Amino acid sequence: MTLTPNFNAGFPSVRLRRLRQHPLLRELVRETELSVRDLILPLFVRHGTKTAQPIASIPGHSQLTVDLLPDEVREIADLGIPAVILFGIPAAKDATGTLACLDNGIVQQAVRTIKDTTRELLVITDLCLCEYTDHGHCGVVRDFDGGRIDVDNDATLELLALQAVSHAKSGADVIAPSGMVDGMVAAIRKGLDFAGYEQTPILSYAAKYASAFYGPFREAAESVPQFGDRRSYQMDPANGEEALREVALDLAEGADFIMVKPALSYLDVICRVKQAHPGVPLCAYNVSGEYAMLKAAAANGWLDESRTTKEILTSIKRAGADMIVTYSAKDVARWETAQRPP
Ligand code: PBG
Repeated sequence: MTLTPNFNAGFPSVRLRRLRQHPLLRELVRETELSVRDLILPLFVRHGTKTAQPIASIPGHSQLTVDLLPDEVREIADLGIPAVILFGIPAAKDATGTLACLDNGIVQQAVRTIKDTTRELLVITDLCLCEYTDHGHCGVVRDFDGGRIDVDNDATLELLALQAVSHAKSGADVIAPSGMVDGMVAAIRKGLDFAGYEQTPILSYAAKYASAFYGPFREAAESVPQFGDRRSYQMDPANGEEALREVALDLAEGADFIMVKPALSYLDVICRVKQAHPGVPLCAYNVSGEYAMLKAAAANGWLDESRTTKEILTSIKRAGADMIVTYSAKDVARWETAQRPP
């Protein structure tokens, strides 16, 4: 008698493939669900009339004049997208970003127009000076001893508070400071409370990295720094522990929820922030460069666009994000609708 080895003998009783066979079972055991209701769509607004100026490096997105917003936001709300985040391109720039705080500034006008159009959309305003300063930095700059020109942290705080109040006054639902200025959350909270907007929440870009993935955005927002870079205020991509300190500080200053940005190369940061602060709603920003990279590959036929996009967004949620700012929000909504059974 020949002995044939029994390869099944003693096989563990657990077979993980059992749960993967039936598509409905796969759905039942799915841990992470991506929904259009988790997404926030960035919008770029500019002065003028009847102009949608396409942004070449962010395909499918344009700088829109305010008169085009009603149609645009009705479509966004109809697609089921719950929120937009606004970026403004002002009429002119100067050293201190004066136009950022005006009641009839571009973002302020846009917020009022959106709010007059629909109540079905949450309006978040990005709060930063880089679109409004002629040097393109996220605050007022000063020549420090030794000829080093850099953002003057504390001189910037009051401007951010003023800008926040003018956004709140125009009807913004959430203020999202993105300048990585130390103390910005406390200053903005104080300004908002003093002006009677103690109910307006702050979504702080708490851990924002000095990332090359912002390239396309800077073209869209016309905010390329005219000299130097942002490494003296945005975080070093090499640091993870520091993100936890940034987040803890912003929460102590009164941030209601927080953001990690970018998302895709920072999934570990998202995961750690969520673990450190499980009760704090966490937003991740799937930035312009991440989107552009995928669009370019899809246009070449190298990647399946909808599958890749959904995989990336799902992975950001799996890492711990509760919501995602993404240029793909409309795409996701359309794919979802196309898939829905009749
Ligand atoms: C403004 C701001 C930036 C982004 C969001 N808010 C640009 C920057 O810091 O240079 C980037 C968004 C993106 O790349 O999609 N400070």
